[in-house]
Parts: sequence; C-alpha cells; structure tokens
Amino acid sequence: MKLSEKIGLITGGANGIGKITAKRFLEEGATVVISDVNEQAGIEAVNELKHYGDITFIQADVSKSDEVESMVQEIVSNHRTIDILINNAGITIDGFLTSMNEESWEKVIAVNLSGVFNCTKAVVPVMMAQQSGVILNASSVVGINGNIGQTNYAATKAGVIGMTKSWAKEFGPKGIRVNAIAPGFIATEMTAKVPPKVIELMKAQTPLKKLGKPEDIAAGYLYLASEDANFINGTILTIDGGLIM
Ligand SMILES: NC(=O)c1ccc[n+]([C@@H]2O[C@H](COP(=O)([O-])OP(=O)(O)OC[C@H]3O[C@@H](n4cnc5c(N)ncnc54)[C@H](O)[C@@H]3O)[C@@H](O)[C@H]2O)c1
Repeated sequence: MKLSEKIGLITGGANGIGKITAKRFLEEGATVVISDVNEQAGIEAVNELKHYGDITFIQADVSKSDEVESMVQEIVSNHRTIDILINNAGITIDGFLTSMNEESWEKVIAVNLSGVFNCTKAVVPVMMAQQSGVILNASSVVGINGNIGQTNYAATKAGVIGMTKSWAKEFGPKGIRVNAIAPGFIATEMTAKVPPKVIELMKAQTPLKKLGKPEDIAAGYLYLASEDANFINGTILTIDGGLIM
C-alpha cells in the first residue's frame, strides 16, 4: 500500500474528484479526512466510503479562514498531524465577461483562490514541524489555455499554478513537495452544468475523444502523494486526454 500511516485532508471531498480520490487513498492505507461546505453530502460520502478504511468528515467552508483554522486544529488533535493536503474544493460561476457581475467574480476567487491560500497557510506549519508533507492543488487546463465564459475560473486556476510554483520553492527546503493537477474535462457534477454541445466540442478536440473520469484524476493525486513522486516538486500535471499540448 502506497499511503500506509499517512493522514490526508481532501477539501471539497464530498463529491466528484475529491470523493473518488478519498476512496483511492483509503484503498492505499491512508487515514482520510474529507471537508466540504455541504454537510449532507459529506455525511453521505463518509457512509459510502467507510467500508474502505478510516474516513471522517468535517464541515468547513475553505473561503472562511476561521473555519479552516478550526478544521486543521481538530484534525491535528484527532490524528496528530497532516501528511497530505489536497486543495480540491472549487466552484464555477460561468458567463461572458460583459455579463459577469462582481459577485460572481468575488465568489469564485474566494473559494478557488483564497480557499487554497487559507488551507495551505493553516496546514503548512504542521508539515514544517515534521519536516515533511505533500500539498496538491486543483488547477485546470483552463488555467493554462483560458476558456470562453470562464474569466473568473481561469484566473483562479492560473493563480493556483503561480501559488504551486511559489510554494514548491518556498517549502521544498523544508521537505514539503507542492504540485498541481490540471484536469481536462472530467465527468462530475461540475461539468454536468456545461451545455451538451460544449461537452461534444471538448470531446471532439480531445485526441482520446472522451471525457475523463474522476478515477483518472485520483490516480494522479495518488502518484503525486506517494513516495514514487519523491523528486517531483513544482510540477503541473495535465491529465486531459491530450486536449492541450
Ligand atoms: N470536473 C472537471 O472537469 C474539472 C476540470 C478541471 C479542474 N477541476 C477542479 O477539480 C476540483 C473538483 O472538481 P469536481 O468536478 O469534482 O467538482 P464537484 O462540484 O463535483 O465537487 C466540488 C466539491 O467542492 C465543494 N465545495 C464547493 N465550495 C466549497 C467551499 N467553499 N468550501 C468547501 N467545499 C466546497 C462542493 O460542495 C463539492 O462537494 C475543483 O477545484 C475543480 O475546479 C474539475
């Protein structure tokens, strides 16, 4: 097992990629804490996954630094440490720039960008104290290539790449590796909101001619979290069927 005795925190872990990553981590022997703003979904996810191993749920909104701080304190008091942080929580509020209001801009920045800042800031001192840790951030191909109707989302996912590389430099000397995954289009609730004709276009533009599955991204997180990736730091791993290259 690749993650025996590791304690992992996955934000936004109640659904989609986060939930499937939690399952994969449990299968590899990790103790997993999922956090999510959606309490009902978090409880359901734990009920669904508890047969795979030690999993608990803490409700927290990543955009609220006080909630993030108390979540991290609770994990440390229950499990002593955090070895792996996956900054997975994310939202979209799409629209053309001309119709995108300030609220849509700020909400997406608050969750996708400030959320990553808040969680990493709260967890890093724990990792520094033990001189080891892995931080994995959810970027997107949209943060590299841009996308029509996703000004706010693309800004956050590009920002996550900047934070990933900065932290890889800042925390590498402390034994903490920081990497990101940039998924292409993955079949989850997030992409279920995308109009079918856009999905068909994305499939057509992808050399593998299909959407990815949450399992494809979970496999990437597992690899980057494991000792197999012990010399990988500051990388942005695209998992997108060849959509961008
Ligand atoms: N699905 C894709 O095609 C795709 C592509 C590229 C990147 N991503 C990124 O991967 C991550 C996961 O995406 P997904 O498709 O699984 O999404 P999803 O919508 O299925 O799951 C996201 C989870 O985050 C939670 N969440 C939302 N706001 C939160 C907050 N403020 N605090 C805590 N939790 C919050 C939601 O409740 C939900 O459980 C996101 O960061 C997303 O941007 C997804």
